[in-house]
Amino acid sequence: MNEIEKLIGSAQKVLKTNDRGGYTIPTDELYPFQWNWDSAITALGWMKDDEPRAWQEIEMLLKGQWANGMIPHIIFHEEVDSYFPGPDVWGVDQPTKTTSISQPAVLSSVVKMMLESANDQTLAKQQIKHMLPALVNYHLWWYNERDPENTGLVVSYHPWESGMDNSPAWDKSLAAVPPVDWEYKRKDTDLIDADERPKAFEYDRYIYLVEFFKKSNFDAKAIYKNCPYKMHDIGIISILHKATADLIQVCQNILEEDAQSGIDTMTSKGNANHEFTFNRTELLANLDTLKQRHQLTQNNIHQLWHEPLNAFLSQDVLTGEFSEVLTTGTLLALWAEFGDDEQKEKMHTLLQQWLSLKPYSLSSTHPHAKEFEPQRYWRGPIWVHINWLIAMGAQANGFTEVAESIKSSSLALIKDNDYYEYFNCDNGLGCGGGTFSWTAAVSLHWLLYPEAQKK
Ligand code: GLC
Repeated sequence: MNEIEKLIGSAQKVLKTNDRGGYTIPTDELYPFQWNWDSAITALGWMKDDEPRAWQEIEMLLKGQWANGMIPHIIFHEEVDSYFPGPDVWGVDQPTKTTSISQPAVLSSVVKMMLESANDQTLAKQQIKHMLPALVNYHLWWYNERDPENTGLVVSYHPWESGMDNSPAWDKSLAAVPPVDWEYKRKDTDLIDADERPKAFEYDRYIYLVEFFKKSNFDAKAIYKNCPYKMHDIGIISILHKATADLIQVCQNILEEDAQSGIDTMTSKGNANHEFTFNRTELLANLDTLKQRHQLTQNNIHQLWHEPLNAFLSQDVLTGEFSEVLTTGTLLALWAEFGDDEQKEKMHTLLQQWLSLKPYSLSSTHPHAKEFEPQRYWRGPIWVHINWLIAMGAQANGFTEVAESIKSSSLALIKDNDYYEYFNCDNGLGCGGGTFSWTAAVSLHWLLYPEAQKK
């Protein structure tokens, strides 16, 4: 068995270890439930040796979808007490317990990749037809509830929604949120070195926001009006933008294929057995709305371009201030192919420089930023799934050399250090949780089966 075969075997073992019967937890104890973008990415890993299981991962995620279309950031399929804050703190009263916020909407991009790489095309199309109403409603939820004023730029309400929890991009805005006024006990720092996790100052405010949503009865209008944390997150906006383009394409393909047969009604089931149903006319109408929303973002994204730093940045909606720190969230603009030629070239130069600064890349915060810490979660360490998105974005923009360099350095990392949650960019050592699903899945999908990319 050669080295690559061994790595493939151990990545598959990670997924099997974290399989909880139809869905995959990110890692035992630290994250013992189903997470939204983790699961989407993990499905790509399952796709390599068990396609029905890969589709099931997504079906299970959609079981948590709310009647308003939101796919929550965590689905608490069963009770496990090694995680805080659990379902009681979130206070969501639904048959399948969930949180009340979402996460970067990479799901539809993944579904498109799954369709393109599926050996069993019949199964893939059957599954996608079931999922389309759910996926379309998820995207409509983002645009309607998170951009009710049609600005083209959705807002996020919690750093956890960004998936980049303690990124320095949120520091200033989070500091304006009051701390929670009751005592709680974190569980993450019993499992992982506190140096590699967010600080108490941040947690106090994370929990305040969780409670704020509960006290607002999860009322979309009230939260939009009163939430003390409102962010135009360039990572969320980029991932949503690309996923909407991908979803539109998937819908169009399915509609064309079904044109002869005359489409039947499509139904997806969500939480509380809520059904999302479309007939052909409704699907076409919703598709038009998605196209308009996509165009609106395309027209207005220039508002997040920050000339002095030569990058798209996140912006605090309440103060209008930019988060003036370079994080990998800003590089996700490449994944959405945002910007004119000059802006893209500037991002390319920035990315080349970023890659040259550390022995291992890409650090989640630019190494020259004053907030940079090589081992602390989203303030410096490398996250392989982010590398994957940025490399694909670089490739799509024609920056092939940089894309290849990110890919080869990611492969070197996992070869030497195993499937960790994230990696220290100074010494390459694994940090946070071990046996981590999305690191294994990205490796299976992108690093260890290079031929899959060439399809
Ligand atoms: C952390 C990460 C988030 C991820 C979750 C589960 O909260 O910041 O992106 O989805 O863990 O892995």
